[in-house]
Amino acid sequence: MAGEKIVLIPWDASSDEQYQRSMYDQRIACGWRADELPEWKEKQIKGIKFLYWAVIRDDFPDKEKLLQRHVQKYPTESKPIIDTASAVGSTAREPSEEPFIPIGHIALEQCPDLDQKFGHPSSTLWVKSLYISWILQDAGFGRSAMAQTERIAAEAPHFATNLALDTMLGSYQTSETHLARLYDRRGIVRPKVLRSTESWYARQGWVLVPMPEPEFYPWHADDVEKNVQLPVIMMKKDITRS
Ligand SMILES: CC(C)(COP(=O)(O)OP(=O)(O)OC[C@H]1O[C@@H](n2cnc3c(N)ncnc32)[C@H](O)[C@@H]1OP(=O)(O)O)[C@@H](O)C(=O)NCCC(=O)NCCS
Repeated sequence: MAGEKIVLIPWDASSDEQYQRSMYDQRIACGWRADELPEWKEKQIKGIKFLYWAVIRDDFPDKEKLLQRHVQKYPTESKPIIDTASAVGSTAREPSEEPFIPIGHIALEQCPDLDQKFGHPSSTLWVKSLYISWILQDAGFGRSAMAQTERIAAEAPHFATNLALDTMLGSYQTSETHLARLYDRRGIVRPKVLRSTESWYARQGWVLVPMPEPEFYPWHADDVEKNVQLPVIMMKKDITRS
């Protein structure tokens, strides 16, 4: 699609290389939910979860220079993987067999229990597991990945009308305690302008799902023994209006 920076390539959960080396390494780099990978594989194979690699488009200026920066920061990701996924859910596809180096990933998932819990229509898909390489953030790749994910969700075979997601409570994400854990202690330079992911989604048309109080997600921070309980809020978007 014209103007897009990212192309999405389906994750081949049956490929050891795409499963263990690539997706696991990216989840470790991301800092969240690497332990859920076996569950994601099962869901992807069953056609409940649809994970895609985010790949810089070939015609994007400075693609090679940006990839160099990415693999310098994350050397385990320097070997390209091959596009081998022959299906997305129950829909067959022709893999290109071309090599690529992903700079992140994003998923769509069917979560009927959560739809019921939060009063979403059954034609809802959940956006999950979004990550763009820390070293390449703030360059528009996340927005491009989201825009294409919305398009995929609205089209066959999903025909979703609504999207939903959970994300960290914005005021907590920009608190000094969390910034020190997320950036300083992990050797990642803090962004010049601090914006929460909650506000990033809001600028893309997502609205808060009313909840009496946030939910909590346990996260292992390396400066405390017990898991930190991260406050999480829910957001939604009607994609029939996009
Ligand atoms: C949240 C996340 C996916 C955003 O990805 P990203 O690639 O940094 O996002 P973008 O660059 O598209 O958007 C950042 C901002 O940079 C701006 N931008 C776009 N192109 C730009 C450019 N060439 N130069 C500088 N800034 C630019 C965008 O306008 C955007 O502004 P906005 O805040 O008004 O939307 C990313 O920060 C991430 O992976 N975080 C860690 C994991 C995580 O928190 N995931 C979400 C779980 S809910």
